[in-house]
Amino acid sequence: MLKKTVCCAFVVFSVGWFAANRIFNTSARTDNNVLTSSLAQADKQQAQPPVNAAERDEAIAVIKKRIVGREDEPAEKVFKNIEILKGKKASRLPGMMSALTGLLGVNCTYCHVKGQWDSEEKPTKQTARKMFLMIGGINKDYFEGKNAVSCWTCHRGNPHPPIQ
Ligand code: HEC
Ligand code: HEC
Repeated sequence: MLKKTVCCAFVVFSVGWFAANRIFNTSARTDNNVLTSSLAQADKQQAQPPVNAAERDEAIAVIKKRIVGREDEPAEKVFKNIEILKGKKASRLPGMMSALTGLLGVNCTYCHVKGQWDSEEKPTKQTARKMFLMIGGINKDYFEGKNAVSCWTCHRGNPHPPIQ
């Protein structure tokens, strides 16, 4: 009698274990597939030409030349369409533009029509401004005005933050 009970319990346990294993393994595999395929999709979205450092440095050099002697004037006096840098020194603009290419992993032309820096044509330029306002708000409201959150916090060198 005891032998029969033990045997029965063993069979029930084995079948249960086998079934549970299959279910969990299968769902783990499915989750993995979903994750891998969404990452692959994100990778495809990220595909950008590599940042052309030579072109970037050349453009920055030209802008720096343009502001020689006016470095300390407000950016909006030296440049044409300034909102974010209003009231800040013009000398801050070249460094900020150069940094943006690294933070987002893009060329200047991702936000600008080549050679027409003041053009407002590209929606990415507008989005970048909104993002500056967003992080300004987050830092002011939650981090006592410190630069705690930056473009890098989310973007990590991609125009579309990797995980959405
Ligand atoms: C992620 C988007 C983005 C990238 C990349 C970027 N810019 Fe800008 N750029 C802006 C925004 C936004 C402004 C407006 C700043 C403001 O409102 O104060 C601007 C303004 C400028 C201006 C001032 C134009 C004017 O007269 O109004 C120049 C010059 C400029 N960028 C050059 C560059 C160069 C050169 C690069 C590459 C090294 C570059 N930008 C990369 C977003 C970008
Ligand atoms: C809290 C996270 C976060 C921060 C911080 C952040 N961004 Fe974004 N940004 C996003 C998300 C999410 C999107 C939408 C991405 C998409 O459409 O795939 C985006 C989109 C953008 C785009 C448009 C990309 C495109 O091709 O449509 C630009 C340009 C951009 N951000 C610039 C910036 C800049 C510049 C900063 C820093 C001033 C910044 N972002 C900070 C989350 C962030």
